[in-house]
Amino acid sequence: MLNIDLRGRRALVAGVADDAGFGFAIAKALSEAGANVCVGTWPPALNIFLNLLERGKMDESRRLSSGELLTFEKIYPLDAVYDRYDEIPEDVRTNKRYKEVGDCSIGGLAERMVAVFGERPVDIVVHSLANGPEVKKPLLEVSRNGYLGAVSASAYSLVSMVQRLGPIMRENGSFLSLTYMASERVIPGYGGGMSSAKAALESETRTLAFEAGRKFGVRVNTISAGPLASRAASAIGIIEKMVEYVSANSPLSDKLTADEVGRVAAFLSSPLASGMTGNTVYVDKGYHAMGMGVPTA
Ligand SMILES: NC(=O)c1ccc[n+]([C@@H]2O[C@H](COP(=O)([O-])OP(=O)(O)OC[C@H]3O[C@@H](n4cnc5c(N)ncnc54)[C@H](O)[C@@H]3O)[C@@H](O)[C@H]2O)c1
Repeated sequence: MLNIDLRGRRALVAGVADDAGFGFAIAKALSEAGANVCVGTWPPALNIFLNLLERGKMDESRRLSSGELLTFEKIYPLDAVYDRYDEIPEDVRTNKRYKEVGDCSIGGLAERMVAVFGERPVDIVVHSLANGPEVKKPLLEVSRNGYLGAVSASAYSLVSMVQRLGPIMRENGSFLSLTYMASERVIPGYGGGMSSAKAALESETRTLAFEAGRKFGVRVNTISAGPLASRAASAIGIIEKMVEYVSANSPLSDKLTADEVGRVAAFLSSPLASGMTGNTVYVDKGYHAMGMGVPTA
């Protein structure tokens, strides 16, 4: 049997704060394949996430096929707009959500992993995070700060992660991110410069695949997922309509599940995909292939 076998490998999934998004489903799929999974959680969402876990609110979704519950080897505080601790502004550091967590920068996370697990602590990194402070505004109305904030949190964060985690990755490591087709086609309502951030993320996937492939021997891919009513997507304000529209106009009309993305992510992160890098892989029920909406009867 051809198996996705990730036993003995460690994954870091950045961008998990509940059980509704792609990050959680990817963490679960990686764990089903045998990987040890650490997650990175945004400090403002960290306490709620820890509470949900502690109070058993996610036990149902944490149930693995073995009957055991998905467990995280470590839960790291991570704010992906900071590369080093000294870049975190004083007012953020002293904010009540940040003051207990210490160095939550990307560099800090890399150092913490080395301190706990040794020099080469990680095989698989999944970037499953995005943020656009002005996502509800059309591009025509977005401020420079809003635009740069979207690109910083959603696109540069991957560059920084490859810079800092690439050197501590074990041989044949894999980076994977999540993108959306608003990078290449107009999705009315997906604003705030997030469409540009996703275009940057896809472009950097190709360039990083080359540079990090040559330098560290690792792979870099991105999954272009169809719409899912996650917490982040709900901030867009029209996610239910997007899900309905895609389901009505795709080759496969059942709604995309996070687990379907999780399984492709596990494959792409595994040695089975050793020949794949620099790819944007659609997991969207085929919606990207359509050139016209399906006429209603
Ligand atoms: N939901 C969709 O329709 C959809 C479609 C295609 C791609 N995506 C992408 O999938 C990825 C995961 O999103 P999701 O929809 O599963 O939602 P989600 O809410 O599960 O994940 C987004 C995560 O990003 C975290 N985050 C926000 N700002 C951060 C920061 N500065 N540092 C660290 N973490 C931060 C949030 O706390 C959250 O946990 C994103 O890149 C998103 O753009 C989503």
